[in-house]
Amino acid sequence: MNILVTGANGYIGRELVARLCTLSALPGYPDIQRITLSDLAFSQVPDDPRLHCIPGNFSEPATLAAITDPAPDLVFHLAAVASGQAELDFPLGLQINLEGALRLLERLREQGNNPTLVYTSSIAVYGAPLPPMVDDTTPLSPALSYGAHKQLVEILLADYTRRNFVQGRAIRLPGIVVRPPAPNGAWSIFSSTLIRSLAAGQPCTLPVNAQATLWLMSLHCCIDNILHAATLPAAKVSGGNAWTLPALRVSVGDIVGAFDARSAGAASPLVHYAPDPAIQAQFGNLPPLNSAAANAAGFRHDGDLNTLLDRAVLACATHSPTIAS
Ligand SMILES: NC(=O)c1ccc[n+]([C@@H]2O[C@H](COP(=O)([O-])OP(=O)(O)OC[C@H]3O[C@@H](n4cnc5c(N)ncnc54)[C@H](O)[C@@H]3O)[C@@H](O)[C@H]2O)c1
Repeated sequence: MNILVTGANGYIGRELVARLCTLSALPGYPDIQRITLSDLAFSQVPDDPRLHCIPGNFSEPATLAAITDPAPDLVFHLAAVASGQAELDFPLGLQINLEGALRLLERLREQGNNPTLVYTSSIAVYGAPLPPMVDDTTPLSPALSYGAHKQLVEILLADYTRRNFVQGRAIRLPGIVVRPPAPNGAWSIFSSTLIRSLAAGQPCTLPVNAQATLWLMSLHCCIDNILHAATLPAAKVSGGNAWTLPALRVSVGDIVGAFDARSAGAASPLVHYAPDPAIQAQFGNLPPLNSAAANAAGFRHDGDLNTLLDRAVLACATHSPTIAS
């Protein structure tokens, strides 16, 4: 089978590619013969003869044609302009996050191969302020262009799936930790900054207060869920094809407290709070989350904060250099 990964040199993309390289096949699919990697540029690529890197803007015709030749059987569409960057540069966000995704869907429709397409949506589809509890009935009301484009692609993906052009599965990711230090324009990056700093015993300044509540997932768990989305049996998808992933809901104070417990109280003095009202409202005020549909479909969170932090700290220790996206 042929796999296409867009955004393959990004934070999540690199980890997904590394995991794919350890596999000869995914459950329910034939052996993996080719993995086409699409990104603007590539830094480190694993040594695997099945990998083919195609640098360039996936939404431009020549690159789009190249990354879909041969026609993919499974697509992981991760390429995106991050939340803050898309808010600062509206045309860029529109072009890549919405128009680019539509061009990719159109190309896949024209090829007629009916691939499975896993789309990494975001909890930004909910907007802010949020109700006292978020569940599968909570209306989507994005408050950022990034979130609006994610919702629109979910709608397109559902329609292309209904028409049997692709088999779409959209998963709404919470904050995935721990992102490497290189900025990518995501306003939610402070959760990674906090964990990375405390793991290294370094000070940090946060744009939210200690009471800020977050929905978090480790990168390891995120990859498990992305692969689960790809391999879900059709019967599990029949009730809908967009899931808000289960996430651990923790406060900044919980995270600092967990590091205090690991360091005899050395963490608290390292954290300084300089709340930015816009960031606190959008990313620091997340209520309890009931992801019943995703749980029923077999998606999982990390289990508990200490497991998440163990995974995050391990990831900090093994971060490879990244390019700014
Ligand atoms: N990391 C998170 O916490 C998080 C949370 C919610 C959703 N997501 C979604 O998950 C996906 C991956 O996120 P990430 O954290 O790895 O982001 P990232 O910014 O690290 O990676 C995105 C990659 O897409 C590439 N890209 C951007 N425009 C492109 C284009 N025109 N052509 C080809 N490549 C292009 C970038 O170069 C980058 O390498 C994104 O769709 C993002 O919206 C991530």
